[in-house]
Amino acid sequence: MSSKKWHGVKFLAPYFKEYKSTVIFAVFAMAGVAITSALTAYIMKPLLNNLFIQKSEHMLYMMPLIIIAIFSARGIFRFFSAYLSEKVGVEITQNIRAKLYDRVLNSKMDAIENKTLGDINTRVIETVLNLHQIIAKTIPSYLISVMTLVALIFTILYLNWRLSLFAVIFALIVIVPVKILGKRVKRHVNSAEGYVTELNERINETFTHLDIVKVYNQVDNEKSKFSTYLKDYKNSLLKVVKYQELTSPLMEFFVSLSVASVVFFGGYEVINNKMSVGDFFAFLTALMMLYAPVKVVTRNSLVLNMLDSYIDRVESILDLEQEDKSKLSLDEAIKSIEFKDASLTIGSSKILDNLNFTINRGDTIAIVGKTGAGKSTILTLLFGFRVPSKGDILVNNKSILDIDIASIRDKISYINQASGIFNVTIKENILYGLEYNKKRYQRAIEISHCEFIDTLQDKDDFIVGENGKKLSGGQRQRLALARALYKDGDIFILDEATSALDANTEALIQDSLNKIMAHKTTLIIAHRLQTIQQADIVLVLSKGRVVASGSYDEVSKTKEFKSNFAL
Ligand SMILES: Nc1ncnc2c1ncn2[C@@H]1O[C@H](COP(=O)(O)OP(=O)(O)O)[C@@H](O)[C@H]1O
Ligand SMILES: [Mg+2]
Repeated sequence: MSSKKWHGVKFLAPYFKEYKSTVIFAVFAMAGVAITSALTAYIMKPLLNNLFIQKSEHMLYMMPLIIIAIFSARGIFRFFSAYLSEKVGVEITQNIRAKLYDRVLNSKMDAIENKTLGDINTRVIETVLNLHQIIAKTIPSYLISVMTLVALIFTILYLNWRLSLFAVIFALIVIVPVKILGKRVKRHVNSAEGYVTELNERINETFTHLDIVKVYNQVDNEKSKFSTYLKDYKNSLLKVVKYQELTSPLMEFFVSLSVASVVFFGGYEVINNKMSVGDFFAFLTALMMLYAPVKVVTRNSLVLNMLDSYIDRVESILDLEQEDKSKLSLDEAIKSIEFKDASLTIGSSKILDNLNFTINRGDTIAIVGKTGAGKSTILTLLFGFRVPSKGDILVNNKSILDIDIASIRDKISYINQASGIFNVTIKENILYGLEYNKKRYQRAIEISHCEFIDTLQDKDDFIVGENGKKLSGGQRQRLALARALYKDGDIFILDEATSALDANTEALIQDSLNKIMAHKTTLIIAHRLQTIQQADIVLVLSKGRVVASGSYDEVSKTKEFKSNFAL
């Protein structure tokens, strides 16, 4: 258990180091809280001995002032300790979140494909929120309590070391059950976090496919699934609280033993004049005050047990394999792309088998084939999402594996079936990160037939809704085309970009495509004949293999082509 605890601390140490001076000030303030707390117990001694028993008038004036001073100082220390701790907590967790987001975006596609949106959401938001609580609240109150404990123990040792032994012995006994409870807390914390993930996933999926959920009348069904997770989540949370709070009755019992024995033995010494009344009450006060920090320390050490679960969950994202950015970038335009005996196996299934073809500058190459033939997967090799299991892909005669993949992506204009429209304005969707250039922008709009923009109420400042849901499918696709045109890559890649469109829109887009194909290197994946008739080379793909290739006229006569188009 303890070694795991250090795991979390080790993880956080470099983050804390960044805010060293704030941390030092915070710890200083915490020590102030601890010392002023111990002083509130200690003043019982002069209060009783000098004011009440000796009846010193001087003390009558002094004591109220001292009390005000001690409590005010404690208040100020508490403020700084809380504020500075929160500051450190916020700063560190925002850093961690930024890093997690960066890791997600830069991770290799195949490393992240088994993760769900809900899971990533939960880790980046919820798990880090829990970490925030620990850094800003749990650790500070733990430290304050430990220091208060030390200060109070010094106080009671100073007042009467023999009586102190009772207190210490009972405090030590309590450690054993607390350790056992800690293990249970951790187990249930883990499952509680798992349920948050499930809840997030349910919300994401049902919200994304709300129309399907409704039309298939699955609202009640989805609701009851959600309730099941809520119930499990609730049960886990209650178990966490139960095991955390079980420390209270244990503590109360041991404290009562220790206070009772001090009352007995201390009372005996006072009766026999071996101890002053002031000493006794100062001692008793300090001892009773010990209870609160001991309780905090035991409870917070349970919470600290959770730290390594949270860190583990964060690390599983930090450890995602990242794309390699150290390679040399391709500084020239793409002149040729050559697939050389390229094969791809995922798990045990061979998705692509020995592909050989070349795309030269200015070519239009079309890949056709039934659904599941492997057409889109070819693109994942070209985009560097996957690495060929065998063979190679040469870009300008250099292996794609030796080139900084970002420099290749920079030169690609890509449109897929889903359009990839963001919930921002039309203009931002078209520019997508590039500088605005009026001429280029207007040309992109013109060629992509985005005239519909003029009919929107805010024109190109119109915000298009999540996934572009305020636009029609054809409008989304034309917008995607405008983006590709604005980027004006060396090669245009279209993956079934027109397959979901009506005949009218398709004719418009076909016109755009013809213009692009005439001037640009184009790789077009399609299952409509019309789209590919202009292609210089047509490849027919079946079960990951090229079964026919050549010009449209040649290929269209083959039985492989006919079987793919059900002619
Ligand atoms: N990540 C993956 N893991 C396992 N199999 C995959 C994965 N991606 C695609 N496949 C499989 O590869 C085959 C080709 O898919 P794809 O390239 O999308 O076909 P399409 O020709 O319709 O674009 C399909 O059988 C699909 O099930
Ligand atoms: Mg596909």
